[in-house]
Parts: sequence; C-alpha cells; structure tokens
Amino acid sequence: MAAGVLIFAAVAASCLAARESLVSGERSFTIDYKNNCFLKDGEPFRYISGSIHYSRVPRFYWKDRLSKMYMTGLNAVQVYIPWNFHEGTQGVYNFTGDRDVEHFLDLANQTGLLVILRPGPYICAEWEMGGLPAWLLQKPNIILRSADADYIEAVSNWMAVLLTKVKPWLYVNGGNIITVQVENEYGSYFACDYNYMRHLRALSRFFLGEHTVLFTTDGNTDKEMTCGTLEGLYATVDFGTTNNVTEAFERQRRYEPHGPLVNSEFYTGWLDHWGDQHAVVDQRKVSLVLAEMLVMGANVNMYMFEGGTNFGYWNGADHDTRFRSVVTSYDYDAPLSEAGDPTEKLFAIRDVIKLFRDVPAGPMPPATPKFAYGFVNLRKVGNISSLLDVLSPLSPVESEQPLTFEEMKQFYGYMLYRTVLPRDLSEPTPLISPLNGVHDRAYVSVNGVYQGLLERDMVLVLNITGQQGDTVDILVENMGRVNFGSRMNDHKGIVSSLFLGKDVLTNWKIFPLNIDGAISGGWPHSDSHSYNNLQKDPSAGPTFYSGTLQPNGVARDTFLMPSKWTKGQVWINGKNLGRYWPARGPQQTLYVPGPLLSANSPNNITVLELESAPPHLMVLLMDRPQLSAPDGKS
Ligand SMILES: *[C@@H]1O[C@H](CO)[C@@H](O)[C@H](O)[C@H]1NC(C)=O
Ligand SMILES: *[C@@H]1O[C@H](CO)[C@@H](O)[C@H](O)[C@H]1NC(C)=O
Ligand SMILES: *[C@@H]1O[C@H](CO)[C@@H](O)[C@H](O)[C@H]1NC(C)=O
Ligand SMILES: *[C@@H]1O[C@H](CO)[C@@H](O)[C@H](O)[C@H]1NC(C)=O
Ligand SMILES: *[C@@H]1O[C@H](CO)[C@@H](O)[C@H](O)[C@H]1NC(C)=O
Ligand SMILES: *[C@@H]1O[C@H](CO)[C@@H](O)[C@H](O)[C@H]1NC(C)=O
Repeated sequence: MAAGVLIFAAVAASCLAARESLVSGERSFTIDYKNNCFLKDGEPFRYISGSIHYSRVPRFYWKDRLSKMYMTGLNAVQVYIPWNFHEGTQGVYNFTGDRDVEHFLDLANQTGLLVILRPGPYICAEWEMGGLPAWLLQKPNIILRSADADYIEAVSNWMAVLLTKVKPWLYVNGGNIITVQVENEYGSYFACDYNYMRHLRALSRFFLGEHTVLFTTDGNTDKEMTCGTLEGLYATVDFGTTNNVTEAFERQRRYEPHGPLVNSEFYTGWLDHWGDQHAVVDQRKVSLVLAEMLVMGANVNMYMFEGGTNFGYWNGADHDTRFRSVVTSYDYDAPLSEAGDPTEKLFAIRDVIKLFRDVPAGPMPPATPKFAYGFVNLRKVGNISSLLDVLSPLSPVESEQPLTFEEMKQFYGYMLYRTVLPRDLSEPTPLISPLNGVHDRAYVSVNGVYQGLLERDMVLVLNITGQQGDTVDILVENMGRVNFGSRMNDHKGIVSSLFLGKDVLTNWKIFPLNIDGAISGGWPHSDSHSYNNLQKDPSAGPTFYSGTLQPNGVARDTFLMPSKWTKGQVWINGKNLGRYWPARGPQQTLYVPGPLLSANSPNNITVLELESAPPHLMVLLMDRPQLSAPDGKS
C-alpha cells in the first residue's frame, strides 16, 4: 500500500502548490476559492485533524491525549462543546475542573494543535440528548432545533456566554481556533428550518466577527446537504470507509463549487449500543481511504481519534425502530483507545500522514501503565426503598398521575415512584404500560419483594402479586436521552399511566433521588450506621453494595469487571464511572482512570445493582479492557 500512496503523494493537490503573497505579520485564516484551499497567514494550509471530547476524558489526561495526537502528525483537533455539560440548570454555568474548556484550548495551543470548534448548540456525539439541556423539555411541546421562540431564547443566552468566552481563542485574535461549525448535521433533522440556521449564523457573526470561517457538516445525501447548508457557511461533508471518496467530494462540490475539500468526520471506528456486537472498523481501510483523501488535497478530521468514556449518565441513545441506549465506553475503536493508549491503527495512520507532511520527531508517549488489583469483596448496604432518608432527604411529591423527570426537575439518573395496591391480587396480575410509557427501565417491588422489570419497547407487561394496601415501589432508570433524529423530546420517568389489569394506578408519591450527591459526600463509607450493618447476602431488586480497594502504594489505570453482576452503576471515590450491563453486552469492563484512585488509603467502591447480584459479592479489577462479549456475540 505505502508504495502506491507514495506515487500519489508526488502529484498532490494543486492547492498545496499555490502561494499567496503574505500579508505582513498579520494572523489570518481564510478560504482561498481560487486555489481550493484554506489560507493560514496567507499561506496554503491543509488540516489533518482528530476529534477528542474533553467531556469524555478526565482533565488530568487532557495533555497526554493531545500530545499523542500531536506526535501522530495531526496539526489540529476537532472539539465539541456539550451545552448540557455546562448549563445543567438554566442560567447557571460551570466552566471549572473537567468542564474548563478554556484550559483544554490552552493545552491544545501549548501542544501545537489548532482547533476546529463545534459549539453546537446541538452536537449529536452519542451524548445525552445530543448536548441539549433536558430542562428545555420543561416546555412540553418545544420544537428543538427550530425557530421555536423558547428554544431560540435559550440558545441565544447560551451562545452569548459561550461565544464571548471563545472569541479571544480565535486564530485571528491570537488563539488557535481556525474554524467554527454552526449546528451539526442539521440536514438530517426533520425540521429543515432555515430561520433557525439564519439565527445561528447571525449569532455567530455577531459574537465572533465577520471574518471567522464558519462551516456546516452534513451527511452524504442531497436532502441532507439541502437542509443543512446556508449561504455564508462553508459546506463540508462527513463519511467513512464504506463510501466512495470521489462521489462523496463530488457532492460537496455541488454545494461548494470552489474551496477546500473537507471531510469533517471520517469514521475511524463506530459506537456501540447495549445489545449490539462491538463495532470494529478495519485499520487497513482507514489507512487506504485516508491516503486517498489526502492525495486529493482534502482536509480531513478523523472521528474519533480519542473517544473516551460516557461517565455518569452522559451516554445518549438512538431511537429508530426501537430505543437503543449507547454503552458507557466511547472507545469507538479509535486510534487512541478509551484509556488513551496508542493502537496499531494510530501507527498505521501516522505512516500515512508521513507521506504528506513531516510528523514530529521523537517517540510516541507510551501507554499509561495499568494495574490488575484483583478481586474486591463487597457487602450489601441496603436496598433503595430502605435508604430513602439518605438518598431523598426532601419529602416526596404527591401526584394523582405520575410526573416525569423533567416535571420533577431531576433530569438524570434514577427516581422512585411509590403507590399502593388498590385491591387484593389473588392471582398474578399484569402491571401494564399500555402506551410504552416507561422511559426507560422500571424495577418493581411489592411490599419489599422484588417482582421484576418493565423495559421501554421490550417488556410492557409484568405479572405481580400482593394484597390491597401493599406498597408498590417502582425505581425508574433514565438510560440516556435520544441524541439523534426526530424523537429527541425524550421525556423520562413514567410518562403515561400504568395499569393494573384494567385499573389505572394513581396517587403516586414520587421521590427524587440524589444518589450522586450522597456518594460524593462520602456515603455509604462515611455512614457508620449503614457501614456497621452491612449484610453479606445479596438481594433481588435495586440494592447498594460497597467495599474498599486496598491500593498497596499503586494508583494506576485499571478496568472494573462486574462479571456475573446483572445491570447497574458503579462509583469509585465519589466519581460515577457509568453503567454496567455485562449480561446484555457487548461492553464487559468499565474504565477506572488512575488519578481517581488513592495510592495509600482505601478506595471506596459503591455499586448500585438493579436486578440481581451474584452469590459471591466481588468485582475484579483487571489491567486490560474487554469491550466485546466473551463469546464474540452479544
Ligand atoms: C463544576 O464542575 C466541576 C467539574 O465537574 C465540579 O467539580 C464542580 O463541583 C461543579 N461546580 C458546581 C458549582 O456545580
Ligand atoms: C498559543 O501558543 C503560542 C505558541 O506557544 C503562544 O505564542 C500564544 O500566546 C498562545 N496563545 C494563547 C491564546 O495562549
Ligand atoms: C468511485 O466512483 C467513481 C465515480 O463514480 C468511479 O469512477 C470509481 O470507480 C469508484 N471507485 C470505487 C473504488 O468504487
Ligand atoms: C428492602 O430492605 C428492607 C429493610 O431491610 C426490607 O424490609 C425489604 O424487604 C427490602 N426490599 C426489597 C425489595 O428487597
Ligand atoms: C401472567 O399470568 C397469567 C395468569 O397466571 C399468565 O397466563 C400469563 O402468561 C402471565 N404473563 C406474563 C407476562 O408472565
Ligand atoms: C472513602 O470514604 C471515607 C468516608 O467517607 C473517606 O474518609 C475517605 O477519604 C474515602 N477515601 C478516598 C480515597 O476518597
């Protein structure tokens, strides 16, 4: 392959042979429509870039990942900004710690990387609700990604804050941001609302100035290009290894007859949903298609270069034929692994890049050291129903009909719905969600006895038994909001009535649960009461378990394997590592970044198991990930 590519490289694109007279000393980044390329400070410029999402990588490792991208030969990184990561409560902004996007831009700049910024407001990214804050859904019929007045007002307020922050980082202002995307793949959204796109264009121009290169990115069909592009926004395309490169760029040319060829998302890998097979994209195809694009003089961004992790509740979901939630790992089969390790794919990509530009001399920074800590024993803390004084300190909300997460103003995680049986159930009686209104999974118990579960699109009926007046506790899990397509108004909780046989269940007490608040505050390890009463036996239904990992002087990256556990969520030292669900797969292990661990004091592990724990209450900490199901299928 390499020899063939070399010959092509010799006849590299016209653009790179072009020369414009240098504007004296001034920083500029523009489009040269005559020579079909970008101009940086008046010189022809082409980017070879990779995507990295700071929201999916611990801040401690930002520099490490960026250095590895630089050493591969990239000259730019492409960065999404997830709105909901920064404005969790309307009007309250967080740009500190793992959310300090300016620090990330600064590190990229120090590393020698330019930035292609993608501020949304919608980003897709397989991120919860495509980056849109769930509080937008408090207006029930809001039309997201359109000129809807409430949506536009929220977007305008956010963009005023964000773009003001970003402006000093523009290349012309001494920073490293060369181009800024407007919306994201808007052409694949049903609304096709040009007034919305015009509004975003106006906001971008107002806050970033007239001379910033603004662009759009769309999938590879004419419909997408028609609805996604707008005059004044440079139209780019995205496609992977299965597309015909010539035809894909011909489509871009129909919308941009002149200017640089740009593939804004060249897919190096792909995402996984629970229940899927683990996605793998062939390394040789990635190299070949990358070479083919670079020979044409195209600008390429590899999506992803470093995928990272959907920590906490940040994974998104798709809803085509049915609801399918994205797994915790966002490894993406990318050139840098979830844990930031260089893969063979990375070295193959570097070999291709070498044919087109000098890659920095010196060794690639090595993989971060891993450690196999072995087994950790856990003990039972108690079930959710018995821990409400800790997890739901405020009194519950009473309502005849169940309220959604959005109505309760608890947007993520888990919430408990409680009512009583209106009559004796002498025989197993169906608890039914006739309108498929459990978003997304409900774990049901009657008077302390676990009965089973309901699951959106999958399990709409569950037989239960009990006596009149028995307490019915239903823990509902939000599995991540839909991030793509027309079904993004994805309200969570019990969103339509549940029936018991023919009777509607009413008179609910709804408990918001602040599990993350309790755990980051030290619970259950700090709670001598619950700690002393730890029980050895597992139980069925949503139950907390805890244990400590003795570090023996080592704090390194490791991978937590909850083998034989069923489905749940794990925290270490207060950090929410995400969901596990080995039974459904494909993902088997959870990434534990070393900087979360203490090298010399016991590390606190907390598990919320939703269905059933194994007889031996242990988890294993290994030195390698396992992202596909053991039998190769899911
Ligand atoms: C802001 O985000 C950081 C990083 O995730 C977090 O540590 C901090 O508690 C947040 N601040 C507030 C006020 O929520
Ligand atoms: C970016 O890095 C360059 C080179 O190190 C430096 O001169 C410049 O001041 C940096 N820009 C910002 C905004 O920090
Ligand atoms: C790609 O499409 C072009 C134009 O339609 C065609 O000439 C070429 O053979 C195709 N390439 C491949 C690899 O199929
Ligand atoms: C929850 O724990 C309480 C107190 O230990 C117990 O009475 C109840 O049966 C348990 N419920 C379930 C569903 O395990
Ligand atoms: C519920 O119980 C009824 C009566 O015992 C039985 O016919 C039915 O198959 C059960 N349904 C489910 C979903 O278990
Ligand atoms: C574990 O929890 C205890 C009790 O909350 C706390 O004192 C200790 O600092 C925690 N350990 C670590 C490593 O965070």
